[in-house]
Amino acid sequence: MSAVELVGLRKSYGNVTVLDDFSLRANPGELVTLLGPSGCGKTTTLRCIAGLERAESGEIRIGERLVACPERRVYLPPNRRDIGMVFQSYALWPHMSVFANVAYPLRVRRRDRRDRHRAVMEILAMVGMDRFAQRPVTELSGGQQQRVALARAMVARPAVLLFDEPLSNLDAKLRRSMRREIREAHDRSGATSIYVTHDQEEAITLSDRVVVIRTGTIQQVGTPREIYTEPATRFVADFVGFENLLTATVSEVRDGSTGVQLKSGAGPVWTSKGIARAPGTEVVLAARADELEIGSLGARGEPPAAAIAGVIRSRTYAGGRVEYLVEAGGARVVVRTPEAGAGGSLLDAGGGAWVRFPADAAVLVDDENAERAPQEAEPAAESVPVQGAT
Ligand SMILES: Nc1ncnc2c1ncn2[C@@H]1O[C@H](COP(=O)(O)OP(=O)(O)OP(=O)(O)O)[C@@H](O)[C@H]1O
Ligand SMILES: [Mg+2]
Repeated sequence: MSAVELVGLRKSYGNVTVLDDFSLRANPGELVTLLGPSGCGKTTTLRCIAGLERAESGEIRIGERLVACPERRVYLPPNRRDIGMVFQSYALWPHMSVFANVAYPLRVRRRDRRDRHRAVMEILAMVGMDRFAQRPVTELSGGQQQRVALARAMVARPAVLLFDEPLSNLDAKLRRSMRREIREAHDRSGATSIYVTHDQEEAITLSDRVVVIRTGTIQQVGTPREIYTEPATRFVADFVGFENLLTATVSEVRDGSTGVQLKSGAGPVWTSKGIARAPGTEVVLAARADELEIGSLGARGEPPAAAIAGVIRSRTYAGGRVEYLVEAGGARVVVRTPEAGAGGSLLDAGGGAWVRFPADAAVLVDDENAERAPQEAEPAAESVPVQGAT
């Protein structure tokens, strides 16, 4: 098994720098996901690893081998890197059968005919496509083509598998089942895999570790649980689906727990999760809608301690749950409760409500938006679809 290591990679197209001092390590046998929005440099990173793009500086290692380093004039072509790649659009050869597509990497490697036949049929059986070996690939459904692309990437048993958003063309149900199959195929192959996606659910459910990327720089590296429950920055929190990101100021620090005062005036809200900052520091309180509590202000009009009082702007049925949008102290807060929650009855839009942050329900994250605002203003994607060889 081989580790994949990128050190200080820099890659530009013309005068646009896509990757800047980009470093990353996938341990042997690990499945690492690159998660980030469109145009942040995910495909560029994969193409540099595969040798389909050349970086301007930095190092790429696969196992013990240095496969690219412009400073030392090292560049190994794709076919000598022992890599299998699955492209977003599959990139199968339309004029070839399923069998011929999958056999191609073995022909390039000059495996003998009998060997080739056995290896292709074995891998097709693994992805459930052996019955279709002689079909032209143009007569397959999207999901079937995806399996063929997966088989082609894996047939030569490469040390490294690269996946570029391989499931984005499939419907939600097929995506979930293919996700499990890719994970099983990765486990069985013993390869080190780097998987690119912009779908946080996919990254969380599939990976050993997740790398969150924003405009060519790494925001956070962690296990799926770490990324999901303790995002390090506002960007990560937003990207992994924290609906509520509220500006707050640290007011007290006690026994590893931090109390913050929301900008809207409510608080203190206490949490021991996330960054630790001194009193007076401005932070962002990130909370998932499902973690918050809501109740009617009722006749007494008195919210419980540390709750924000506000008005329900909307109520939406969200499949077994109910989602409220509450405007409170200048902030908009989203709360989701079980249908029979909030004391058993639904609250009405237009009514007064309180929203409470139970202890440790929220995470404190850095607000790096202020300093990065100019980059945010750039349009994200005049993205060119890029394709390569096998
Ligand atoms: N061949 C190219 N020439 C010029 N610019 C390019 C080229 N390929 C990519 N870019 C630019 O580099 C940036 C990163 O592109 P990349 O394809 O790596 O993004 P991505 O994260 O894979 O996005 P997506 O999720 O949309 O596939 C984008 O701004 C894109 O427009
Ligand atoms: Mg891409």
